[in-house]
Amino acid sequence: MEYQKLIMAFCFHSLLILFVHQSQLTYAGKHLCARDEAFYLLQLKQGLTVDPNAYFYGCDSEAEAKTLSWNATRDCCEWGGVTCNVFTGHVIGLDLSSSCLRGTIDANSTLKKLGHLQRLNLAYNKLSDFPLGNSISQLSSLTHLNLSLSGNMMQIPAGLTNLSKLVSLDLSWHTEFQLGLTTFRSLLQDLTNLEVLLLDNVDVFGNISELPKYLSSSLRYLSLGHTNMFGNISESQIFHLPNLQVLRLGNNPLLTGTLPNYRWNFSGSVLELDFSNTGIFGKLPGSIANLHSLWRLNLRNCSLSGLIPVSLGNLTSIRELILTRNNFTGNVPSTISKLNKLVYLDLSSNHFRGSIPESIGNLTAITVLALSYNSFTGNVPSTIQKMNKLSYLSLSSNNFGGSIPDIFANFSELSFLGFDTNNFTGPLPYSIATLTRLEALFLQNNSLTRPLPSNISGFQELTMLDLSFNCFTGATPSWLFHLPSLDYLYVQHNQLTGKLPNELKSNYVEYSDINLSYNKLQGEIPDWMFSTSLGRLDLSHNFLTGFVRQVWPSGNIRYLNLENNFLQGSLYQSFCDMVILEILILAQNNFSGSIPDCLGNSKSLIYILDLRMNKFHGEIPRFLPTRLEYLGLYGNQLTGQVPRSLVNYTSLEAIDLGNNKLNDTFPIWLEKFPYLRVLILKSNLFHGPIGDFESEFPFPELRIFDLSCNGFTGTLPSKFFKSFRGMMDVNEKKNRNYSSY
Ligand SMILES: *[C@@H]1O[C@H](CO)[C@@H](O)[C@H](O)[C@H]1NC(C)=O
Ligand SMILES: *[C@@H]1O[C@H](CO)[C@@H](O)[C@H](O)[C@H]1NC(C)=O
Ligand SMILES: *[C@@H]1O[C@H](CO)[C@@H](O)[C@H](O)[C@H]1NC(C)=O
Ligand SMILES: *[C@@H]1O[C@H](CO)[C@@H](O)[C@H](O)[C@H]1NC(C)=O
Ligand SMILES: *[C@@H]1O[C@H](CO)[C@@H](O)[C@H](O)[C@H]1NC(C)=O
Ligand SMILES: *[C@@H]1O[C@H](CO)[C@@H](O)[C@H](O)[C@H]1NC(C)=O
Ligand SMILES: *[C@@H]1O[C@H](CO)[C@@H](O)[C@H](O)[C@H]1NC(C)=O
Ligand SMILES: *[C@@H]1O[C@H](CO)[C@@H](O)[C@H](O)[C@H]1NC(C)=O
Ligand SMILES: *[C@@H]1O[C@H](CO)[C@@H](O)[C@H](O)[C@H]1NC(C)=O
Ligand SMILES: *[C@@H]1O[C@H](CO)[C@@H](O)[C@H](O)[C@H]1NC(C)=O
Ligand SMILES: *[C@@H]1O[C@H](CO)[C@@H](O)[C@H](O)[C@H]1NC(C)=O
Ligand SMILES: *[C@@H]1O[C@H](CO)[C@@H](O)[C@H](O)[C@H]1NC(C)=O
Repeated sequence: MEYQKLIMAFCFHSLLILFVHQSQLTYAGKHLCARDEAFYLLQLKQGLTVDPNAYFYGCDSEAEAKTLSWNATRDCCEWGGVTCNVFTGHVIGLDLSSSCLRGTIDANSTLKKLGHLQRLNLAYNKLSDFPLGNSISQLSSLTHLNLSLSGNMMQIPAGLTNLSKLVSLDLSWHTEFQLGLTTFRSLLQDLTNLEVLLLDNVDVFGNISELPKYLSSSLRYLSLGHTNMFGNISESQIFHLPNLQVLRLGNNPLLTGTLPNYRWNFSGSVLELDFSNTGIFGKLPGSIANLHSLWRLNLRNCSLSGLIPVSLGNLTSIRELILTRNNFTGNVPSTISKLNKLVYLDLSSNHFRGSIPESIGNLTAITVLALSYNSFTGNVPSTIQKMNKLSYLSLSSNNFGGSIPDIFANFSELSFLGFDTNNFTGPLPYSIATLTRLEALFLQNNSLTRPLPSNISGFQELTMLDLSFNCFTGATPSWLFHLPSLDYLYVQHNQLTGKLPNELKSNYVEYSDINLSYNKLQGEIPDWMFSTSLGRLDLSHNFLTGFVRQVWPSGNIRYLNLENNFLQGSLYQSFCDMVILEILILAQNNFSGSIPDCLGNSKSLIYILDLRMNKFHGEIPRFLPTRLEYLGLYGNQLTGQVPRSLVNYTSLEAIDLGNNKLNDTFPIWLEKFPYLRVLILKSNLFHGPIGDFESEFPFPELRIFDLSCNGFTGTLPSKFFKSFRGMMDVNEKKNRNYSSY
């Protein structure tokens, strides 16, 4: 109190001195706080609990609870979150956001007595209902109210609209709360000084055309993302607001309308426009160029079409331009290279064509450049090397051609590089292999040639490498298997030769997926390939030899495909130690011996077993994996009967036993299998009549049925043909799936 008098004296004596000393005063400002207000605050604190374990965004430790520092022995103006007026000592600001608060601030709470309060922030807490309810109207000085994610809101009190000085209102992130259009309308009509309004992720659910025709011209910041609004935006309502800086209407898919052809009243002030994931349609008008100060334009996933106006190049303040997932066509105007503040440019998933202008290299501030999924043609301009701040560069799925220029030497930030699914030719440019930050490299589906570089200096952070479906030749360089962060290695469908490295520098690779299929690899499969972390290994369609192993490393392989090589020898019992194997494809090799019984042990998870076109002999094991869906034994030398245990494997969809020496009668006991689509018994020693079916509709799903070249006698029951519903309902896709096994 004494101190307050002193301040008053200062005031009377010299305003000038006061201003000079103001900072010292607030620093020394003890006992500034009005005692009654300190009491009201302590009362408020008493009604709330600090609960760090409750869920609230942005609160993870008790230390964040500002109320913990509230203590009668200290001046309340020094308490956490409290701001006082330096002259009067009145509490004018209370910021208790992210304070782990739980409880109710009801209509009787002493909070309402803080009559000088101008700013109240209770965001990111766990309060029940709207603080103070109707008594909120007593905080008549309030200019800023922030209740974003403040807890469980159940109503908007009518008293809120009495706060005539309110300038900023944030009610966002009450995802369960239904605000309704009527309340929204009254907020807009009654709070005439409102400049900032955030309702993102609140359910307004209403037709935007039922909002007032003319909104308050004081509105500066209007954020209505994901509010469930629908209907047609009328030009006069929104685009004529003269002072708008931020307009966010994104994530309202049923909101439609067009962008104005010339009248954007806020052209001088606007900084951000977000219409992402709305039904905005029509063209991007040339008038967009009037938005001189625009900083961010997000039109992701709208229904816009037509050409990009040349005047786009006049948006010289823009940093983020997002036009992805629309129906834009034509060339990208070269004026885009005038946007030299651009940091983020996403033009992906449209119908753009033509080549990229050389001048695009002038966008030297850019960090994200996404041009994927368009119809761009031509070469990649080498001027791109000037964009050395890039962290994401994607040209995937276009018709770019020529060789990839060797321009990556200075890209020290690049973490994603997607050049896949184009028409690139020539070698892998060496400078790519020097990229130290790269995490994903996609070059698949091109016509790249020549050997891969024999050593590299980058790629230490690479997690995905896809070089598949190209024409790379030469030896498989050992660095492919030494990348410390790699998870996926896809090199299938190339022309790589030579042996796989026998020894690895590290103990085992941490890769989870290796695909080297359809190459020209020779030699034996090294043991490390069955090491602990690998989940999928595809070495099919190569020239690999050898295989015999008495002891198998017990790895984590789920998918093993060695189809079409020159592998030989028998499968020992220990083969079954690959306990989590689900898909085993050994078709088209020279494996011999008998099929190990243990494949059918009760723990087996195998559901695709393809041993076709080998030299297996002996009988089919009595038991097979119980989850079996595909059994392919075609083209071996198997004898004996079809194991009767098969009757229990009702998940079977395809059974191919053709071209063996099986001697049995027709397995009529398969007639009730609900999913069986393929049954091939041809070229065996089956004999006897087909028999009488028990079911009205035997083999309900059968599509491929081949009994030829056996010793069956009698006639095929006509019921057979009437009941093959599967064959009548020909589903090409499903059938093709199976013929590929
Ligand atoms: C208030 O703060 C003083 C000094 O920081 C401390 O000694 C005292 O225990 C605190 N009182 C309460 C009730 O927290
Ligand atoms: C507020 O206080 C009055 C009088 O003490 C009481 O009747 C009323 O129920 C209280 N309201 C709430 C919401 O606690
Ligand atoms: C409301 O408070 C939260 C948390 O402090 C903050 O992130 C948000 O920007 C605030 N809203 C406004 C409009 O200032
Ligand atoms: C709030 O406004 C309504 C109508 O505008 C009025 O009836 C009511 O008295 C006001 N309440 C307060 C607390 O000012
Ligand atoms: C929105 O309201 C307008 C005018 O009342 C009406 O023409 C339109 O059909 C409504 N839109 C929807 C989606 O209900
Ligand atoms: C929607 O508004 C645009 C102008 O913004 C107008 O051209 C169009 O006809 C309107 N559509 C409907 C269905 O009202
Ligand atoms: C764009 O800028 C050019 C040159 O600065 C100017 O001639 C043209 O009028 C501008 N266009 C629009 C629509 O502002
Ligand atoms: C793009 O156009 C096609 C056909 O013209 C249409 O089917 C599709 O829905 C459009 N996509 C968008 C995002 O507007
Ligand atoms: C933009 O790029 C073009 C071609 O690459 C170049 O001739 C021109 O000087 C560049 N302009 C600026 C402003 O850097
Ligand atoms: C790919 O390039 C070759 C020659 O380089 C050309 O003949 C072919 O038409 C191109 N294909 C596409 C889809 O652009
Ligand atoms: C099928 O399974 C049942 C129950 O597990 C078992 O009793 C029966 O012997 C099995 N049938 C054949 C042919 O293995
Ligand atoms: C098939 O097996 C039966 C007895 O199970 C035997 O009599 C017959 O000779 C065998 N057929 C051939 C072709 O081996």
